[in-house]
Amino acid sequence: MCGIFGYIGSRDAVKIAINGLKKLEYRGYDSAGIAGIKDGKIVSAKELGKITALEKEVAKMNLDLHVAISQTRWATHGKPSKINAHPHFDATHQLALVHNGIIENYEALRTSLKDKGVHFVSDTDTEVVAQLIGAHYKGDILKAVFETLPLLKGAYAIALIHQDYPDQIIAISHNAPLVIGIGENEAFISSDTHSFVAHTREVVFLENSEVAVIKADKLEVFNTALEQIEKKSEQLSIEAIESSKGNYEHYTLKEIHDQPQAVRNALSGRFLQEYGTASFDSLNFDVNELLNVKRILILACGTSWHAGYMGAYMLEDKARIPVQAEIASEFRYKNPIVQNDTLVIAISQSGETADTIAAVRELKAKGAKILALCNVEGSTLVREADSTLFLRAGQEIGVCSTKAFTSQVVILSLFTLMMARMRHMSKQDGQEFLKALERLPDQIDSILKNSAHIEAIAKKYAHYENFFYLGRHYMYPASLEGALKLKEIAYINANGYPAGEMKHGPIALINENCPTVALCSNNLTHEKLLSNLMEVKSRNGLVIAIAEEGDKGIEKIADEIIRVPATIDELACIPAVVVTQLLAYFIAKERGADIDQPRNLAKAVTVE
Ligand code: AGP
Repeated sequence: MCGIFGYIGSRDAVKIAINGLKKLEYRGYDSAGIAGIKDGKIVSAKELGKITALEKEVAKMNLDLHVAISQTRWATHGKPSKINAHPHFDATHQLALVHNGIIENYEALRTSLKDKGVHFVSDTDTEVVAQLIGAHYKGDILKAVFETLPLLKGAYAIALIHQDYPDQIIAISHNAPLVIGIGENEAFISSDTHSFVAHTREVVFLENSEVAVIKADKLEVFNTALEQIEKKSEQLSIEAIESSKGNYEHYTLKEIHDQPQAVRNALSGRFLQEYGTASFDSLNFDVNELLNVKRILILACGTSWHAGYMGAYMLEDKARIPVQAEIASEFRYKNPIVQNDTLVIAISQSGETADTIAAVRELKAKGAKILALCNVEGSTLVREADSTLFLRAGQEIGVCSTKAFTSQVVILSLFTLMMARMRHMSKQDGQEFLKALERLPDQIDSILKNSAHIEAIAKKYAHYENFFYLGRHYMYPASLEGALKLKEIAYINANGYPAGEMKHGPIALINENCPTVALCSNNLTHEKLLSNLMEVKSRNGLVIAIAEEGDKGIEKIADEIIRVPATIDELACIPAVVVTQLLAYFIAKERGADIDQPRNLAKAVTVE
């Protein structure tokens, strides 16, 4: 979603900002813009579409800036357009600001400003903030900011420049992430540390409602009472990653192929084969706390929720702990009951998903302990949680989540093993479970080597507009994930369904124009699934089966079979989902979709 990048210092601010924006591209956006101060005046450029369009435009303007704020916009209020792109300005064009988040009461504020004669040029909620600060400005910009902030409702991260203050950027963070990078006589501001980690690792995270005045050589941070507060800087340990697709056509394909290594990374140093259990260095809950857990609540959105759903099945089955996997955006409005012995597991690749973070805050306020599963060091979720298990999947750039899902399931499996071994699971069963986990990277590799077969099937079925993905037990959340991949990157309507539920309504949609992708690798429910697939066949439905090697039963039913290596039911979703990722990728490619940055989607969904 929207990404902010700012720079102040002696270097070429335009070049640094454009490169910074490129590092934020993965978040998803529809337009981009930049503003700076030149000869005491605000100068700016905005473009609809890719950052390269903005880059060309600023090159023509020959700007020589040492302070710049810039932004990639993902439209919420007002359609994607050059006018609605950030930055936005006050009526006198003395200030420019960029914003990430939503101003919930913007309509009322806009009306009251209009009544006072203010003319708006865009449809955005952001322009309201620029106009309000402009209206309050009487020579002291910080004062104008502090008079405006209490009027705003919602979530916002803002970077602002004013022509009367050419040597500073003001940054504001309220329920939306913003981090300041401190260099030598220069400073950076961004929604994501990855965008400037090549320049500096020293960072200051702004917390809720803090306001920072950033100069090249000085940083001041204020609380809501305009009192200056002491902020300690931290050193990032993340690497400056020069993200590259290598020889792959898309990041998404590269990340699908990263999975064997991602699984190895997720497992590395986290299990004890001799004792048949798992252990996590970073888990700072003591044994008694873990033994006292009587209920687990898993919170997440999208793909992370699918991984959580899988984890819930596993934890209940193996550790015999009641588990609820909830969609964070729904859960937070349920006025949840949290008992002392409940452990909350919040799962998020980005660590910035607004709904997940809001749910976590609600639960923290009720006294719950939060364990995060996250891929991004320094992200908001990591800072809010009591303890974090990192995915170690490496940066995921494709908007569609692939390797993060696999790593999430692997870590949930390890966590399940640890909790189960502390309770009823035998050492021998634990060791068997670990062996199955260790086999996974090679098993995924063998699926990747079968890509040509999956691509051929994808080409044959790419013209269909509706699909079902069916599975039972562990294969049900896997079918949800498979269907989501097809929806988001190929723009095809796909329904993930528990196969046993089809006859209760959805089967009405089955005909020769609606293929079914059947996820067959669940031994416990295999016979039942075959019966459900017969029901599909009887209604002229086509069946593309993802079936384990040696599964003979499916041969009489399926129109196509994609084989996956056999594993235990608890882990079978991983090979199956890897196939669905490749299937969606090749179908999307056949249809010419924008695979790495699908329309309307954002990598980090930072608004509710
Ligand atoms: C996955 O392919 C999606 N793009 C999306 O559902 C994503 O998983 C969801 O927005 C949650 O993101 P998070 O893991 O960063 O919290």
